Amino acid sequence: MEVIIASDQDIVALKCADIIESQIKTLPDSVLGLATGSTPVGLYKELIKRHREHGLDFTGVRTFNLDEYIGIPANHPQSYRTFMNQNLFDPINIISENTYVPDGMGENPLDSGPLYEKKIKDTGGIDLQVLGVGTDGHIGFNEPTSSLQSKTRIKTLTPQTLEDNSRFFSEDEFQPKLAITMGIGTILESRRILMMATGESKASAVREMVEGSISAFFPATALQMHERVTVIVDEGAASKLELKGYYKFVGKLQDDLIKKHRPSDWISR
Ligand code: F6R
Repeated sequence: MEVIIASDQDIVALKCADIIESQIKTLPDSVLGLATGSTPVGLYKELIKRHREHGLDFTGVRTFNLDEYIGIPANHPQSYRTFMNQNLFDPINIISENTYVPDGMGENPLDSGPLYEKKIKDTGGIDLQVLGVGTDGHIGFNEPTSSLQSKTRIKTLTPQTLEDNSRFFSEDEFQPKLAITMGIGTILESRRILMMATGESKASAVREMVEGSISAFFPATALQMHERVTVIVDEGAASKLELKGYYKFVGKLQDDLIKKHRPSDWISR
């Protein structure tokens, strides 16, 4: 894993936007895997800015979101489809038919997972997957004990996740307890993974994900098995990393290398 420690969450967003911009400019028909939640909001704001001010072009891009709640319609204010439309898709020039979010209201929810997997395969697979991490180690909604080879399917959210996400729902509002999520196996099939984490509340999760033992009990540790993962964290989220000094040292050497080589040279299918 490549671990990049940035001074604050704004720099995390800029660095992630640089990677996505470079990906899109090198392969304009890139397939991006996207996440919702608080963490990528700054990244999405930066991509919108680059679209508006520098013409970053999304017309060829296809996107697949990680997950969606079961039991609320796509146009519900708390659906992940609504989140993506508001926070990224509507303000950029992506073609809306090229944005996919798992179907949380499918007639037979058990069919929705395999259908989503097929769609991902039909586009040629995900080039770059953006991820955040839950305090319980989930990626997507793959909660602790999810199979490390799992594919898109329905999962029951843990009490911890329900509590973490309750901030988005008012007290008397229905908060879904089920979600449809890409599996850990689906995520690991992406060609490149960009994991973002910010704030001290994520410090234990980041420590476990990067330096802990691989275990279904902490799903994010599965990323250690992928050959191309970039973890970008701020100082708060990095605060419990044992080898923090080493990652910073590697980062400095990397920066020197980047000055010599164009990062776009490293993007391929
Ligand atoms: C969202 C998702 C989740 C979040 C995670 C962190 O699509 O898949 O795994 O990335 O719950 O959420 P935030 O960023 O709100 O802390």
